[in-house]
Amino acid sequence: MLVSLLPCLALSLAAAQTAVFMDSPADSAAACPAHFTQWTSEPHAPYSPGPLRLPTMRPPAHCRTFASPLIDQLIADVSGQITDPDIRQLFSNTMPSTLDTAVAWHTANSSAGDAPYPYTFVITGDINAQWTRDSTNQLLPLLPYVAAEHGLQALVAGLVNMQAEQMSAYPFANAYKPPRRSRLTPGENSWAKSDRVVPAFDAAKVYEAKFEIDSIAAFFKLSAAYWRQTGSAEMLDLSVWRAAVGSCLKLLARLQMPTYGAEGRLGDPVVRFARTAASATETSFGNGRGNPVRYTGMVRSLFRPSDDAVILPFLVPANAMLSVELVHLADMLDALNITDAAHTDSLVARRLAAEIRQGILDHAVYSHPTYGSVYVYETDGYGSQLVMDDANVPSLLSLPYLGFVPKDDPIYRNTRRLVLSTDNPWFFNGSDISGIGSPHTGFHRVWPMSIAVAALTSDNKQEIVEAVGMLARTTAGLGLMHESVDMDDPTNFSRPWFAWCNGVVSELIIETVRRFPGAL
Ligand SMILES: *[C@@H]1O[C@H](CO)[C@@H](O)[C@H](O)[C@H]1NC(C)=O
Ligand SMILES: *[C@@H]1O[C@H](CO)[C@@H](O)[C@H](O)[C@H]1NC(C)=O
Ligand SMILES: *[C@@H]1O[C@H](CO)[C@@H](O)[C@H](O)[C@H]1NC(C)=O
Ligand SMILES: *[C@@H]1O[C@H](CO)[C@@H](O)[C@H](O)[C@H]1NC(C)=O
Repeated sequence: MLVSLLPCLALSLAAAQTAVFMDSPADSAAACPAHFTQWTSEPHAPYSPGPLRLPTMRPPAHCRTFASPLIDQLIADVSGQITDPDIRQLFSNTMPSTLDTAVAWHTANSSAGDAPYPYTFVITGDINAQWTRDSTNQLLPLLPYVAAEHGLQALVAGLVNMQAEQMSAYPFANAYKPPRRSRLTPGENSWAKSDRVVPAFDAAKVYEAKFEIDSIAAFFKLSAAYWRQTGSAEMLDLSVWRAAVGSCLKLLARLQMPTYGAEGRLGDPVVRFARTAASATETSFGNGRGNPVRYTGMVRSLFRPSDDAVILPFLVPANAMLSVELVHLADMLDALNITDAAHTDSLVARRLAAEIRQGILDHAVYSHPTYGSVYVYETDGYGSQLVMDDANVPSLLSLPYLGFVPKDDPIYRNTRRLVLSTDNPWFFNGSDISGIGSPHTGFHRVWPMSIAVAALTSDNKQEIVEAVGMLARTTAGLGLMHESVDMDDPTNFSRPWFAWCNGVVSELIIETVRRFPGAL
């Protein structure tokens, strides 16, 4: 886990490190938290009148990083449909977490840049850098509402523009520093100084250069979702966006190719990442190239969505997500009429999507002695297959949530039974919480995100309501989601300020209220 100590948010107040945080709007003249890690680590009154007594974790209104009257109204409306006071509190804490704390920079009209487009820099929470995957997921729960509020639309368009700017130059990186014109203090990644990376990059712009194909899928996903919801590209800098799409597609096509060329020899590495690290998950096999692969149609990745190294480079859930989002991208390109006359980008995207899907069906299904046909987590085209799942999305558990298969797909049903059991080496069944964890946080630690995703991919009302209850009971009394939780002791957790998971849980609660009125 990376921990940085500096997020110097774009808050106008010079709050001292030792600021005393105030609890009620009456204290609105008070200093704002200098760092939300401390704010999210302490409970704030008033408490919900339920058995869990969950605290109120929204910072005072004048300290929030973005204001949306529409989302405040949504919180009030959805809360009105929740009977359980603890769940209601959990929802009103989690839904606005990114807006309240993680919009480190936003300009509706970039007078500091050179074009009149909005830009938005969204941090993960406790690290002052923007991950493509996290930032997409952090804003996705807001997408259904963007068309109804101009400010919210500019916020999301700004993130598409920011990601496009980053991807057009460095499509192989996973996290970026704030642009100079934002005047934010960039997060420092002390490890990155000694990273041996191909291609080269500007360390003032890239925070970390781990090649993760789901980051590219996340960029496509946010762009296409924004387009679907608004039907407008007016706020997007399409020339930069097109350049970004072009560089991503080129990179993906090269990484479909096998490790060894026609003569059975290594070619130049397309991407490479090696680091001197105490942990095996922080560097790549093969002196940074990754383990060898044969052609399958899938695209190689060096790292997983946990930012841990892959073992076998065809990371199946990330390829599944890519295959879905390439089709959404192609639809957007066609609707915008912005490809060249031959519609090359859109054709390339559709062809890649189909080849990846076929590659998964041909190489990533394993005949398990207990569960029957299941999807594997990673494979290599030589016949090796890794049976496991990790909590981070994209995961095997999330395949229907990603739109790759319907919930009743028979191979998915078998896979789901497997990954939600101790036959998945990263599933933990503890006394307080049970679910999937990640090598990233080690043994005996469950990620609340996996519990939310299990519920989001279920049609079983009882299973969904129980999952929401388990999430509410395991916040260590802090009323916000954490990255990982010890399976026998929820007060032992990692990352108090983890905005992505707060977004996923609020999505689950909205979805549950909509599908099963009166259930919560
Ligand atoms: C951005 O600001 C400039 C200068 O104030 C103005 O001319 C332009 O119309 C603005 N653009 C948008 C999209 O608001
Ligand atoms: C794209 O072209 C089609 C057919 O020429 C047209 O109907 C459509 O309005 C165009 N879309 C955009 C966004 O310009
Ligand atoms: C977890 O453990 C309990 C008993 O300790 C058992 O009843 C339950 O079936 C287990 N769940 C899984 C998924 O292994
Ligand atoms: C927290 O949990 C981890 C395992 O999940 C364990 O190694 C560690 O000792 C625990 N810390 C405390 C303070 O209990």
